[in-house]
Amino acid sequence: MKIVCIGGGPAGLYFGLLMKQLDPRHDITVVERNKPYDTFGWGVVFSDATMDNMRQWDPPTAAEIQQAFNHWDDIELKFKGRTLRSGGHGFVGIGRKKLLNILQARCEQLGVKLQFETEVDADTDFPDADLIIASDGINSRIRNKYAPIFKPDIVTRPNRYIWLGTHRLYDAFTFVFEKTEHGWFQAHIYKFDADTTTYIVETPESVWKAHGLDKAGMDESIAFCEKLFAADLQGHKLMTNARHLRGSAWLNFQRVTCEQWSHFNGRAHVVLMGDAVHTAHFAIGSGTKLAIEDAIELTRQFKELGDTPERIPEVLQRYQALRRVDVLRLQNAAWNAMEWFENVGERYADQLPPEQFMYSMLTRSQRISHENLRLRDKAWLEGFERWFAERAGLQLPAHVQAPPPMFTPYTVRSVTLKNRVLVSPMAQYSCVDGLPGDFHLIHLGARALGGAGLVVAEMTCPSADARITPGCPGLWNEAQRDAWKHIVEVVHRQSDAKIALQIGHAGPKGSTNAPWDASGADHPLPAGNWPLLAASAVPYLDGGAVPRAMTRADMQRVRDDFVRSTRYAADAGFDWLELHCAHGYLLSSFISPLTNRRSDDYGGSLAHRLRYPLEVFAAVREAWPQHLPLSVRISAHDWVDGGITPDDAVQIARAFKSAGADMIDCSSGQVSALQKPTYGRMYQTPFADRVRNEAGIATIAVGAISEADHVNSIIAAGRADLCAIARPHLANPAWTLTEAAKIGYTPIPWPRQYLAGKNQMETLFAREKAQQSQPQYKEPA
Ligand SMILES: Cc1cc2nc3c(=O)[nH]c(=O)nc-3n(C[C@H](O)[C@H](O)[C@H](O)COP(=O)(O)OP(=O)(O)OC[C@H]3O[C@@H](n4cnc5c(N)ncnc54)[C@H](O)[C@@H]3O)c2cc1C
Ligand SMILES: Cc1cc2nc3c(=O)[nH]c(=O)nc-3n(C[C@H](O)[C@H](O)[C@H](O)COP(=O)(O)O)c2cc1C
Repeated sequence: MKIVCIGGGPAGLYFGLLMKQLDPRHDITVVERNKPYDTFGWGVVFSDATMDNMRQWDPPTAAEIQQAFNHWDDIELKFKGRTLRSGGHGFVGIGRKKLLNILQARCEQLGVKLQFETEVDADTDFPDADLIIASDGINSRIRNKYAPIFKPDIVTRPNRYIWLGTHRLYDAFTFVFEKTEHGWFQAHIYKFDADTTTYIVETPESVWKAHGLDKAGMDESIAFCEKLFAADLQGHKLMTNARHLRGSAWLNFQRVTCEQWSHFNGRAHVVLMGDAVHTAHFAIGSGTKLAIEDAIELTRQFKELGDTPERIPEVLQRYQALRRVDVLRLQNAAWNAMEWFENVGERYADQLPPEQFMYSMLTRSQRISHENLRLRDKAWLEGFERWFAERAGLQLPAHVQAPPPMFTPYTVRSVTLKNRVLVSPMAQYSCVDGLPGDFHLIHLGARALGGAGLVVAEMTCPSADARITPGCPGLWNEAQRDAWKHIVEVVHRQSDAKIALQIGHAGPKGSTNAPWDASGADHPLPAGNWPLLAASAVPYLDGGAVPRAMTRADMQRVRDDFVRSTRYAADAGFDWLELHCAHGYLLSSFISPLTNRRSDDYGGSLAHRLRYPLEVFAAVREAWPQHLPLSVRISAHDWVDGGITPDDAVQIARAFKSAGADMIDCSSGQVSALQKPTYGRMYQTPFADRVRNEAGIATIAVGAISEADHVNSIIAAGRADLCAIARPHLANPAWTLTEAAKIGYTPIPWPRQYLAGKNQMETLFAREKAQQSQPQYKEPA
């Protein structure tokens, strides 16, 4: 085959040499606009997995790279006058120049033609080629030429960064954070050869502008960074090797993805590779890894399907299908890490103490979990766990190992939860006339015995017409109060769990079926309906029952109903109360602009839409004993254009905080039937994180949190203070006890009646773990 690689970066060179090695008869040319030793950029980072891959595909190149590699294990953080370090992270770095020189030499040795100082205008410059690799980097001319076919999606990110180098040497991947009068700067630092270190400085656009760096030349920018990071640089200079660049030396990262990776131009097949088709932010490693792995995958497909021109279409199809998945996975992790660095200043650096800040930084991509950190550096993690537990109020003798964060206590007002797990409120639709009965005693009682710190009873309604379904519980009369009191007393007598009640009014989503009845959840009852109230006359479902927009008299009546329920809840002995302001129910219908169309004082701006929910909150807070906690559940994202966004959620949380809320329970959605949520593991936790660290109020994270490892990571990183677990508790009332056994946390107390099962469960999980544990490759953080 005749192959031309446009662009002699890692992708083009490595693919060229691999294909030549596959069959020396291939005629391969790499065309590069620069001179052979004229390359920019400092060190690049590889993972051990990429190195293993390279060793398999071309041992001589891998051996050369291996010799030139710098390996380091530790990550060091310099922050607020402290230096923290954790190990076991295993990175390797190499100078970009050195890497390209090794690849160039190997290409020449194998007979790949290298044509330097040649600017390629178009793929059609090579009419006799069978295959053209567009490995022409992030600004790929070839990708741009065929943009309607490749459909690139290019997102320019807000932070500014500058690639610099220094001769100060470091023995760890180092992060330094410095605050100026305008905001935070961070440096990402790693040594890549015997006497040089990459030094990338990054800051938000607003901070960069406030310092006038948008008008600064290269020398001024370097002088600025040298002064800012003087303590770290210890007299060393910063250097640039990009003096050829026009315009600002400070770049914005561009995230590139493409829908289609290849195209037949009428004569040859053109395929994108490396940065031309995808980019990954430097916060997670380097695009070089992806470029090299692209080259390997395409070669593998030629090897498996045949390296002849006829096989090209099939090969390219498989290449795209396979690479796309891996690349997306890495890009997602890189995106999380990038966002962490974009928001790090005010959200984390200003809020978190150094130990927790370090933990948050190490887990920024969200693919490194608590147990993964334990594998990397047990001593560091145990030190962190001790620090965390002591902050949570535990006094531990030196020989006693601290519990993981999930099993530390948490105190709000006068209530101390034994751990950070909540049984999330879950409607059971099993009452008659709003009276909880045997089912509720068994249901809530079993979960109270199952290890959670707080069991939250389902949404309970302040009046009969406030119910979602005829089976929903109520708290508008003394019989209901007494029924709840019985349950609360049993829970208190038989377990050390606390018990909460969630009070809520169904509003526009009332008078509907239980999920298993008639036409199913959210659909109107076939008969026996009651009139609905809402902020505005907007039905939840198209064609569904239309609620009446509340009058001021309705508002006063409903507020007073909430107060009556609150007093009954206090009489019943509940430890904690939650006000339901989420999921499109009555109070939520005021908050969301999708459901609140009012033109009076209770509609319009967010501040006005919050007025009624805050009025109810204030009345409830007043009626609820001062020594007991009151949390508020919100929908932090409507998942509909024009609806509530996480930015609004921060404002909503601030308003409830000022009104005296203790915690915000960060759920999302169910406000509009048009919602398009993005589900995934811990998918609502970013809202709890933002609210906690931007509004400065404690939060409860909820949604697809299904393992102790999730809870530990969330709590330890300060992304929330408590985790609510719903569906897993339906299947397993003893979810907390089970998860403790799974991670080998054995000091957790069990109900004494169940003790015979504890040891057995712990032994079985320990055995399972031992069987599974094999040396594993560790991804870079
Ligand atoms: C200047 C620069 C510095 C970088 N520094 C670092 C770093 O220090 N650390 C790090 O981890 N990552 C760095 N990166 C990013 C990382 O190297 C890339 O993700 C990786 O190089 C991707 O490899 P690639 O082969 O796809 O693209 P590139 O390495 O960008 O290679 C593309 C090549 O194509 C050539 N080219 C483009 N258009 C034409 C044309 N029309 N005709 C001929 N030749 C053309 C370019 O000169 C370039 O050599 C840098 C990238 C660049 C471009
Ligand atoms: C059967 C069921 C009933 C629910 N009822 C309520 C409720 O009464 N109040 C509430 O705020 N959320 C309710 N939810 C939402 C859960 O509390 C929780 O936010 C959601 O299920 C996501 O958590 P998970 O992924 O752990 O299930 C309910 C969820 C389920 C599955």
